[in-house]
Amino acid sequence: MNGRAKLLAINVGLPQDVSWRGRTVHTGVWKRPVAGPRMVRRLNIDGDGQGDLDGHGGEQRAVLVYQIDSYRYWQERFGRDDFTFGQFGENFTVDGLPDDEVCVGDRYRIGEAVFEVTQPRVTCYRVGLRMGEPRLAALLVSHRRPGFYLRVLTEGRVEAGQEIVKIASGPEGMTVAEIDALLYLPGHSRERVARALRVPALSPGWQTSFRALLDQPDGEPAGNAGLTPASAGGPPPAWEGFRPLRVTRIDAESKSVFSLTLADDNGTPLPPALPGQFLTVRLRPDGGGPPLIRSYSLSGRPDAAAYRISVKQEPHGSASGYLRAHLRVGDVLEFAAPRGAFTLEAGDAPVLLVSAGIGATPVLAMLHALVAARSAREVWWLYGTRDGTEHPFAQESRDLLARLPNAHRHICYSRPAPGDRQGVDYQTAGRLSLGLLSAVGAPRAAQVYLCGPAAFMNELPAVLASSDLAPAGVHTEIFGTGPALNPGLTSVPARPVHPPAGPPGTGPRISFARSGLTVEWDPAYASLLELAEACDVPTRWSCRTGVCHSCESGLLSGSVGYSPEPVDAPARDNVLICCSQPRDELVLDL
Ligand SMILES: Cc1cc2nc3c(=O)[nH]c(=O)nc-3n(C[C@H](O)[C@H](O)[C@H](O)COP(=O)(O)OP(=O)(O)OC[C@H]3O[C@@H](n4cnc5c(N)ncnc54)[C@H](O)[C@@H]3O)c2cc1C
Ligand code: FES
Repeated sequence: MNGRAKLLAINVGLPQDVSWRGRTVHTGVWKRPVAGPRMVRRLNIDGDGQGDLDGHGGEQRAVLVYQIDSYRYWQERFGRDDFTFGQFGENFTVDGLPDDEVCVGDRYRIGEAVFEVTQPRVTCYRVGLRMGEPRLAALLVSHRRPGFYLRVLTEGRVEAGQEIVKIASGPEGMTVAEIDALLYLPGHSRERVARALRVPALSPGWQTSFRALLDQPDGEPAGNAGLTPASAGGPPPAWEGFRPLRVTRIDAESKSVFSLTLADDNGTPLPPALPGQFLTVRLRPDGGGPPLIRSYSLSGRPDAAAYRISVKQEPHGSASGYLRAHLRVGDVLEFAAPRGAFTLEAGDAPVLLVSAGIGATPVLAMLHALVAARSAREVWWLYGTRDGTEHPFAQESRDLLARLPNAHRHICYSRPAPGDRQGVDYQTAGRLSLGLLSAVGAPRAAQVYLCGPAAFMNELPAVLASSDLAPAGVHTEIFGTGPALNPGLTSVPARPVHPPAGPPGTGPRISFARSGLTVEWDPAYASLLELAEACDVPTRWSCRTGVCHSCESGLLSGSVGYSPEPVDAPARDNVLICCSQPRDELVLDL
């Protein structure tokens, strides 16, 4: 480092509610300089706080640092002269310590306190909100001026004007700018990523991201597994958009569930799917009207030449009701290729397949796969339903389990019918609760695969926290929209999805498959994310400007353009909805 580094300002601020685009954001990004000495503690500087502890703050992100040189850079770039200390949400404004010289793991003494550099700044829309520059989160990364976080090794008082003394160098000599670029910018050299993982001071969150990048198979077409599980490998979809498949069988599985077997018209075997993946069907009950788009997990043997899906007829359900009433053997339907990351992982760990109701379908495909592979793994089939009339795949699952050397079965009927035999058809009278896992002696360190109604899935975190199961991995599938991730937004009411207010747009049709909603695009929206928000479709985002990949979603058909261009491309057949606009009709897995 050239010259002596100096602490120019200590900036603090407690979270406040800020109005933003008709909503309220709870944020601590407004920091103001304070005079005199301040105590710096393990989690915060006195008087400072963060609005959203999932994204900011905590031991690894106790103090955010930004350089006065970068102030000058951005002032020039934006043609502004109104910056004041704390402008970038930082706690310490410093002279010196540039991002391309400071290394993760470097240690500094300021006043009485000692600090260690843990990671670059988190990419988040709130810094752009504070600055009135919505694209700032992406610009900080692409211009390699992110700033960085410090962990507090020794608590103590610090004061503006004090010298910053370097007392130790981070091992591996990897600068903040390099580590930031390694995660966010294209390239991700495996050798450099492995090297970054050898820096013990690198925060656990960044270590997880880099491990995911290392685990991403070589030659993946694109995508950043370090930023989103949506890119975490797996083969790309077997075909683009929708293709016709013929219904070759319809089988009743229970009172309300029926299976469709689907084959290629020319008799060509269909591309294999991974056990646990789903198909998406596009139905056109009204001819030219908006299509009905729904997803159905594959329930048969994943490597079979034909596909099988199993549909529960929902009371008043549009698609399931239409299929039940109108579908005949020989009919042709349009399907998007198998997709989804809820898939059976290889390994020797015990496998718990836990499902309720129609949630049996993807785990049944996994059971088929285990049998086809003659797996010696310990396999548990735990299933809950109402009674024997609503017990699909009862015989099929029993037969499959009988072919495994180390299989266990436990069935719960919440309201057994008079003819249902306890000990034969079912074991427990009552709802399948995850608490049962420990009670029936399910093994520890298992890979758990869960699929069922929302109430059942919502139990999961509490059960895992209170039981001694300590699973090796927990995988869940949701038959609907996933949970929203809208950092900092307060009191967002969970409203059913709906078309946007006002007259319909004049652009191409946009279908949100999981939400069951098709609407017209209106170029007044800056991005697909804005359209989704106008429809109350649950969304996930953080930077809103194409850098963090939180908004990466499946693109089942159609194509998009990007403005602004994303910093790193999403995986093939995925889309970053925060910075894209449709080129033609789209079907999104949202
Ligand atoms: C990844 C994934 C995998 C899936 N796998 C499967 C699967 O294997 N099998 C399966 O059956 N489903 C599966 N689903 C769910 C499936 O996609 C559909 O959501 C489901 O079939 C319901 O669609 P629908 O059109 O019949 O119901 P919708 O018309 O979308 O209605 C949804 C719900 O609202 C209720 N409803 C609708 N209208 C009314 C009304 N007027 N009054 C009262 N209630 C009403 C319906 O009863 C229903 O419960 C999966 C979903 C996803 C995302
Ligand atoms: S929200 Fe960050 S890339 Fe879209």
